[in-house]
Amino acid sequence: MTDKYAVIGNPIAHSKSPQIHKLFAQQTEQDISYEAIEALLGLGDFIFSVRHFFDQDGKGVNVTLPFKVEAFHNADYKSQRAQSALAANTLTFKNGEIFADNTDGVGLICDIQINYDISLANKRILLIGAGGAAQGVLYPLLEKNPSLLHIANRTKEKAAVFVTSSELAKIIGEIEIQAKAFSELNNHQYDIVINATSAGLTDEMPPLPPGIFAPGALAYDMMYGRETRFMKFAREHGAAIVSDGLGMLVEQAAESFYIWRNVRPKTAPVIAVLRQQQ
Ligand code: ATR
Repeated sequence: MTDKYAVIGNPIAHSKSPQIHKLFAQQTEQDISYEAIEALLGLGDFIFSVRHFFDQDGKGVNVTLPFKVEAFHNADYKSQRAQSALAANTLTFKNGEIFADNTDGVGLICDIQINYDISLANKRILLIGAGGAAQGVLYPLLEKNPSLLHIANRTKEKAAVFVTSSELAKIIGEIEIQAKAFSELNNHQYDIVINATSAGLTDEMPPLPPGIFAPGALAYDMMYGRETRFMKFAREHGAAIVSDGLGMLVEQAAESFYIWRNVRPKTAPVIAVLRQQQ
């Protein structure tokens, strides 16, 4: 029997998840369907949609903006990865209960470490942004033992909360982790600069000083779909590699697929298909 999966968000029409999961299913010969569901904003419609899908024999859902925090709070069980992200992008239905996980962080790590073949260990990392997207990747980045992680945010206090959160203290160890205002980034250079702000949505860009890219640096924008101003800035100011977040999107989907099907799809051919469509 065909197992049913879906992605739920708002808006959802342009989601690439159905195409990605269908390509994974073809490649791994899994008998699944995967649809896109738009939940209404507010009024509990998101969790109603999730429960309705599970009542109709759905096996799992991906959750995208703006429902990842709500998904986390409504789950019966939460993985360590979801707990450190305070958000969930993968829900699995088992014996009447909802299990929440978060694969965004591992998606980013795989794209950088496997697809770009860049180790995060001992690197100087700048994470830009202190919203949900940054929270989702913070712990996975720290677990890879960079030498330093600076978090820059327009509202510095939000970045400072990241740094002082108690659980973080346990894994900081040797890693220098600091909150920064953009005005405090002068005279710093980083090997990896990750844009986790939503600035690209409005064609804006965080006010970065021009000298932040160390020789050989990777500039990574977690957004995908078009060249952001951050990516353009990085190309113009010495980043050696500039990437959007398309690889992260496919990698987080692959980890969700693995959670549900216990089969790990190959991501490179799927990334190649999506790149051709850009
Ligand atoms: P998301 O879940 O996508 O991370 P969010 O939680 O609303 O969304 O967080 C948006 C992030 O983008 C924040 O870090 C925000 O900075 P503030 O906390 O100071 O608001 C950042 N951001 C949005 N637009 C920005 C811009 N034009 N320049 C710099 N940072 C921006």
